[in-house]
Amino acid sequence: MVSSSTMQQPPICHPTTTARWWSKDSIAIVTGANKGIGYALVKRFAELGLTVVLTSRDQSRGLKAVDSLKVLGLDRNVYFCQLDISDQASIRSFVSWFRSRFDAFDILVNNAAVCFNAMNSNSMDHAETVVKTNYYGSKLLTEAILPLSRPSNSAASITRILNISSRLGTLDKLKNTKIKAILEDKERLSEDRIDMVVGVFLQDVKDGSWERQGWPEIWTDYSVSKLALNAYSCVLARRYEGVVSVNCFCPGFTQTAMTDGQGKHSADDAAEMAATLALLPVSRLTTGKFYAGSTTRGMHSKL
Ligand SMILES: NC(=O)c1ccc[n+]([C@@H]2O[C@H](COP(=O)([O-])OP(=O)(O)OC[C@H]3O[C@@H](n4cnc5c(N)ncnc54)[C@H](OP(=O)(O)O)[C@@H]3O)[C@@H](O)[C@H]2O)c1
Repeated sequence: MVSSSTMQQPPICHPTTTARWWSKDSIAIVTGANKGIGYALVKRFAELGLTVVLTSRDQSRGLKAVDSLKVLGLDRNVYFCQLDISDQASIRSFVSWFRSRFDAFDILVNNAAVCFNAMNSNSMDHAETVVKTNYYGSKLLTEAILPLSRPSNSAASITRILNISSRLGTLDKLKNTKIKAILEDKERLSEDRIDMVVGVFLQDVKDGSWERQGWPEIWTDYSVSKLALNAYSCVLARRYEGVVSVNCFCPGFTQTAMTDGQGKHSADDAAEMAATLALLPVSRLTTGKFYAGSTTRGMHSKL
């Protein structure tokens, strides 16, 4: 049974030492997997013996990623499909491709995201694209693929959704008390309310008032997109309690293209943590949590 309180007790065990509930018939889908944490996670899932669907918005970058898995001898159970999560037609064709090859999926990792700001800048020039990709893209894909989740006839077959999020999008970064109250009210939180919050933000960007409205101060558009993704994860976790486990994970400051290669640890390290969460043993499976941590030993849920 997925519980919203089970997993308060760190440390979380390493996947190879925990009860192995998965097999090569378990299917994991990873978005934005041609590089960075997404690629490293596909590699880790493949090493651990799952079947993985590597998706990438760019066909040639995706195929190149599969080629590098081939060099490592890890491509046997890796499938590729083009998927741009910001494009509804691409989501539709991905879902129909998936349906034609697999009966169901077990794990969805919403990893793909964009951030157009360099480390110390905070431009809103791409705010709409950032929100459209990081929040709406992950949400639309989730809605479209959820009907193909494996029917749960046992605890082991509970579908897992892991949303790769960020500490920059946690509620403590929000100074706007009205918006904060809406997002904190978990009883009344709904997709409509989250979309309304996102709409208010985009309007503030449009009319140039966003800096005065108490939105998160660092990488504001990116942070709001992750704030919305976290809130959406809470809504989903409540809706599918006992059927689908929905958690968020902040990989911490990781050396990828998004940070210009800066960071405290590698994409492989971050992927190890993400794999640990996605593969939690049934007895420790939770839902509606936001995990953050730089090592699997110290990883904990902040909510
Ligand atoms: N790195 C960090 O310090 C850090 C910290 C906290 C959270 N995160 C989160 O970790 C996740 C992975 O980021 P990363 O650090 O690995 O960054 P990254 O190396 O820039 O990788 C991002 C991936 O997302 C893909 N992508 C972007 N837009 C897409 C779209 N519309 N459809 C499908 N794929 C798309 C990119 O594809 P292209 O190659 O085509 O651009 C790329 O494969 C993200 O959710 C990010 O927000 C990262």
